[in-house]
Amino acid sequence: MDHRTLDTPAPTIFDRLGRPLRSLRLSVTDRCNLRCKYCMPEDDYAWLPRDTILTFEEMAELTAIFTELGVDKVRLTGGEPLLRRDLPRFVRQLSENRRITEIALTSNGVLMADQAADLSFAGLNRVTISLDTLRADRFRTLTKRDLHHQVFDGIKAVVQAGFPSLKFDTVIIKGYNDDELIDLIEYGKTVGGEVRFIEYMDVGGATDWSMNQVLSRAEMLEHIGRHYGGVQPIVENSVAPAERFRLPDGTSFGIIPSTTTPFCRSCDRSRLTADGMWYLCLYAKDGLDLRAPLRQGRSRDEIKSLITAAWEGRADRGAEERKALEALGLREQRLIEINRLREDPHLEMHARGG
Ligand code: GTP
Ligand code: 5AD
Ligand code: SF4
Repeated sequence: MDHRTLDTPAPTIFDRLGRPLRSLRLSVTDRCNLRCKYCMPEDDYAWLPRDTILTFEEMAELTAIFTELGVDKVRLTGGEPLLRRDLPRFVRQLSENRRITEIALTSNGVLMADQAADLSFAGLNRVTISLDTLRADRFRTLTKRDLHHQVFDGIKAVVQAGFPSLKFDTVIIKGYNDDELIDLIEYGKTVGGEVRFIEYMDVGGATDWSMNQVLSRAEMLEHIGRHYGGVQPIVENSVAPAERFRLPDGTSFGIIPSTTTPFCRSCDRSRLTADGMWYLCLYAKDGLDLRAPLRQGRSRDEIKSLITAAWEGRADRGAEERKALEALGLREQRLIEINRLREDPHLEMHARGG
């Protein structure tokens, strides 16, 4: 990018609820090496066809267009992003875009041991590892794979690589891991990582979801407060989904309560799938195809106009709408029927990056 472009600050575009376009989640692959109960619990999945997957150059080009429209935070997701060969090369490409102030990654950690140092060297700023349990037998039950030890090797490598921020994402499911909140906070302390407990969400991929498996933020706080003798909210001006809290010894942790307390009103995020579909909400059933105009050789300005028009028309409040179904007794109905999910992999959580 040349200096003239940088001298001109990117404009901010707003949607119909006044929310700016700011954070972009790039799903670099829809493939995953785990089968988590809350995300990919089925045995068979339809995958995105290989010839539709964007090259790193195509993804970096679309990202550059987004950054000229105000995006400054990029998060790499999947599926499992480390399954995409040569990911550090892509991180390096992104780090050359000076409008990006932060490049983050959400990974299950299984392949991290071999890649953490290269990713750090390439310019990755922050890492979040999905860690739902400290127990190998539970990990097998939750993920259908016996790879728990590799996750811990991965975490060690992240610590050694010296990333300035390490977080853990823990989806709490009643009857599976709701007795591990304290153990996970204690583990986080030993490696300098902040644990964030996520309420189990009824997104497309969560085909086994039911409300009675959701441990609510209130229940989490009650349990943690009883153990530590007090929990203080951390007051901060942030649009991040996590609400943060502090324990009497100074340790912080987060809760992402999007099932009981959606944060749609401040949502500045959107998602690009590995094949270039752009989704304006985690719960959206339709997206905007950006691969076609890119491969047809349409100009940056033309693609910018498509993106701007879509964002300016956005009124999505997926999590709030799901919550509103509770009063009607309809929330237990699946967001998307399994047959439709099988026909269109884009509808899955794993295609659009958690
Ligand atoms: P930082 O706060 O910047 O670290 O990013 P983040 O919390 O968005 O990153 P991460 O990928 O770790 O997201 C944490 C979890 O929050 C996800 O895995 C989802 O469960 C949930 N989440 C992320 N984005 C959304 C969203 O757009 N809507 C809703 N309702 N939940 C989301
Ligand atoms: N509920 C809550 N969080 C989910 N994730 C995936 N599926 C769900 C769900 N049903 C999040 C988890 C995982 C990340 C990639 O996406 O935090 O670690
Ligand atoms: Fe944003 Fe949709 Fe998530 Fe609400 S449900 S926070 S609008 S992505």
